[in-house]
Amino acid sequence: MKRKYIISFIVLLFVFVFTTACADSDKHSAKEEQNGGEKEGKNIQLPEGELQKLDSGQDVKALQQGLKKIGYQIDSSGKFDAATVWAITDLQLQHDLSVTGVYSQETAKMIEQLLAKDTSSYQPGKALPAKAEPVTTNDGSNVLANPHEQLALVNKENALPEDYIPVDLVTPNVPFPFKEDLPKKKMRDIAAPALEELFAAAEKEGLELYAQSGYRSYDRQVNVFNSNVQSLGEKEANLVSARPGESEHQTGLTMDVTSPDINFDLTTEFANTDEGKWLAEHAADYGFIIRFPKGKEDITKYQYEPWHIRYVGKKAAKEIMENNLTLEEYLTK
Ligand code: DAL
Ligand code: ZN
Repeated sequence: MKRKYIISFIVLLFVFVFTTACADSDKHSAKEEQNGGEKEGKNIQLPEGELQKLDSGQDVKALQQGLKKIGYQIDSSGKFDAATVWAITDLQLQHDLSVTGVYSQETAKMIEQLLAKDTSSYQPGKALPAKAEPVTTNDGSNVLANPHEQLALVNKENALPEDYIPVDLVTPNVPFPFKEDLPKKKMRDIAAPALEELFAAAEKEGLELYAQSGYRSYDRQVNVFNSNVQSLGEKEANLVSARPGESEHQTGLTMDVTSPDINFDLTTEFANTDEGKWLAEHAADYGFIIRFPKGKEDITKYQYEPWHIRYVGKKAAKEIMENNLTLEEYLTK
């Protein structure tokens, strides 16, 4: 009888110890989850190289773990997805860094600084709130939740918010065929130096590139589009110019480029000039693409525009231009 009690006591004790241990480990993993993985968080080694949208692998995962640790609610999926671009963009906006959505050296430094201190008062999403619900325009286009990113896809399906004005517009130091200090001289600070380098390289080859039209506000695009509708009708107008919100010119990442040979016009003749040929061959070396290429009108939904260059950064530009892609094809590969 006594022996029976002792055995029962031992069994009960064992069950108690076992359940307590399990409960503890559950608590621990819940806390780990909250902290973005305590184990992961302790020794986060941020990646050294640049990373951007569409990249994937262990480096992206390490970056996501770092972002989680400072409070961004994102998955450590190892895929540089829209949520990762959002977190990077918000962080850049909050710390006055170049706003690109690309993980760069200076962004890495800032994340490192944040990881080293108490971030309990840091407010992820303060500069770029995460959008819960998709928003559409009156025409049914998706309104971009993140208009700031370098790889923003702006087209007939994806529009910029009406009130979006780039935070970093500057006037690049390149030749313009007019003197007035107009907003269309401007580009974003992340693209202007690249345009200057591109123009300087062309000049070295004895070529005369001129910048004709860069940043255009939403309201200005309303006027441009309406005047095209009046002279061409809506359908034709929308083959040569974008509806308000759907123009890349509002991103500040675009410049229409021309040359004296064609009287500074924006016509397909530009493709046959030495300047136009050189531009098509070298734009990518400086991070630009010909955004509306010949033969891809069914994808871009716009006519061929050999003069309209868009800054996407060197990595994307090389892949796009070398493989004869559009931005649409590149981003949905
Ligand atoms: N010409 C291009 C499509 C624009 O209006 O942005
Ligand atoms: Zn253009």
